Formats: sequence, structure tokens, C-alpha cells
Amino acid sequence: MSELPILIVGGAGKTGARVSALLRASSIPTRPVSRSTPVPFDWTRPETWPAAFAGVSMAYVTYQPDLAVEGASDAIAEVGRLARENGLARVVLLSGRGEPGAQRAEAALQQSGVPWTIVRASWFDQNFSEGYLLDGVLAGEIALPAGAVPEPFIDADDIAEVAVAALTDQRHVGKVYEVTGPRALTFAQAVAEIAAAVGRPVRYRQIAPEQFAAGMRPHAPTEVVELLLELFAVVLDGRNSDVAHGVEQALGRPARDFSDYARRTAATGVWRA
Ligand SMILES: NC(=O)c1ccc[n+]([C@@H]2O[C@H](COP(=O)([O-])OP(=O)(O)OC[C@H]3O[C@@H](n4cnc5c(N)ncnc54)[C@H](OP(=O)(O)O)[C@@H]3O)[C@@H](O)[C@H]2O)c1
Repeated sequence: MSELPILIVGGAGKTGARVSALLRASSIPTRPVSRSTPVPFDWTRPETWPAAFAGVSMAYVTYQPDLAVEGASDAIAEVGRLARENGLARVVLLSGRGEPGAQRAEAALQQSGVPWTIVRASWFDQNFSEGYLLDGVLAGEIALPAGAVPEPFIDADDIAEVAVAALTDQRHVGKVYEVTGPRALTFAQAVAEIAAAVGRPVRYRQIAPEQFAAGMRPHAPTEVVELLLELFAVVLDGRNSDVAHGVEQALGRPARDFSDYARRTAATGVWRA
């Protein structure tokens, strides 16, 4: 394998940090980038992109804030062009299930001419421990406009293993892996599993979208609030409730269950109030 590093866009993120750690454990050099790294990469500043893509062998790309936002597919098209221009052996793109914008971004990468693998993920387990739902778990209540539609939450460790397989084995080139956990749970059921694992009450409360927006506005920029509202409405309308088998297809083993995530995460102490 090339001595050049593998670029990890979103290198400190939920999946990027795991991909970087797995590669380094196999002595494969990485270049994790985001707005705060020595080689900076900012999705809102295209002038930062060429330097990040120079002198790397491949790339794992996670977009911010979400491929559903306007302009995401143009950005991915440009990243695909840079990857081809720099002779990258492949680009592995993290995508989201059931989002029209994300599918446009996937198409942009597929048409760029660079060898690609797409990892199309469901809602991450780690949103409850490393994302915007952590505060709710700590406070003992998660209030969301999520309804009773089941979601097959996926473990970010599984996503990272699939991404690393795609980066290290060319058999995965040209594949779209739709990755989910092995079981669909409602948000209420997921929160109940976390409560059981952590050994204290944490409850789920169903709220209206307007209530959710009013609660978020003092803490998050308007576009993030709008994005979350759109995701709850679009992604959680039942279209994504089916379990998919991308983890098994890519790795030859079943995906990790949510209860496994809840137990492991409770043991780290991150949910101690
Ligand atoms: N979370 C889910 O459930 C889920 C499900 C399916 C797909 N996805 C997709 O996964 C991707 C990652 O989502 P995530 O929310 O889980 O985030 P994440 O991977 O945890 O990423 C957070 C990182 O993004 C970096 N970042 C923030 N704004 C940036 C910008 N403008 N340019 C470059 N880097 C930036 C931050 O580092 P700095 O502060 O150093 O910049 C931070 O470390 C998104 O494309 C999302 O659509 C997420």
C-alpha cells in the first residue's frame, strides 16, 4: 500500500475519528482534517479543499452539516474532481439513507470519474453519547418530534469498519453499502434501553415540531434547527424503517445490536449524570 496518508474529512467526527484510529492501528498513515486541524478543511470555504487533497492516496469523506442541505452535491462533485485530478485510488463517501439531497451527492461522486464506495447509513447510535442527544440522556429526558416510527440505529464502530474495508480492499470499489443496525427501534424503545443500561430513569417525550424548534433556537443556529426539523419529518416518515444488510455484505458478520452499544457506552461513564 502507498506510503501517502489517507485523507479523513471530518477526522475528529463520530465516524472519522474511528476510521482514523483503525487505519493507524494497522500502521496506515492518515491525514484527519476539519476546520481546526493544521491543514484546515472547511466545507464553507472551498479554497481550503485543494491543499487537503494534495499528496494523499485515498479519502474518507464526511460532509457537514448534512448532505441534505443545498449545495452539498456541488461540493461533492468538486471533491470528486479534486480526487481525480490528484490521482486518488478511491473515495469512500458517508451518506444518509432516504434523503434526496444525499442521493444527488452520491450521484455527483459516481459521475466524477474517481473510483468510489458509498456507505449509506441510518441514524447513528452515537447521537445519544457523542451528539446532540447526549444532554437529554444526562438530564433524564429526551424530547423529540420523532413519532413512533422505528429506526434501525447503526453503531458508528460498524460504519468505521465498513469504511476501512472499503479503503483497504479494492473489492469494495463501485459498491453502495446500505448500513443499519440489525433491529429497528422507536426513539422511546432506544431511550428505554439506555435507561436500563445506565441504571437510572431516562424517558422519551414526544413533542410537536414547533415545540422542538422553540427549545433548540437559543442553543443552535437557525439553519441547524431547520435541518433537524427536516430530518425528523423526512427521514423518520417510515421510509427508513427496514433493516438493511450492508454491514454483513461488506464485513461478512452481522451488525452490532443497539443493546450492545448501550451496555458498552454505559460502562464508559459518559452517561453518568
Ligand atoms: N449522525 C447521524 O445519525 C448520521 C446518520 C447518517 C448520516 N450522517 C452523516 O454523517 C456526516 C457527519 O455527521 P455528524 O453529525 O455525525 O458529525 P461528525 O462526523 O461527528 O462530525 C463532527 C466534526 O465535523 C467537523 N466540522 C463541523 N463543521 C465543519 C465544516 N464546516 N467543515 C469541516 N468540518 C466541519 C467538526 O470539527 P471542527 O470543529 O474541527 O471543524 C467536528 O469534529 C454528515 O454528513 C451526516 O449527514 C449522520
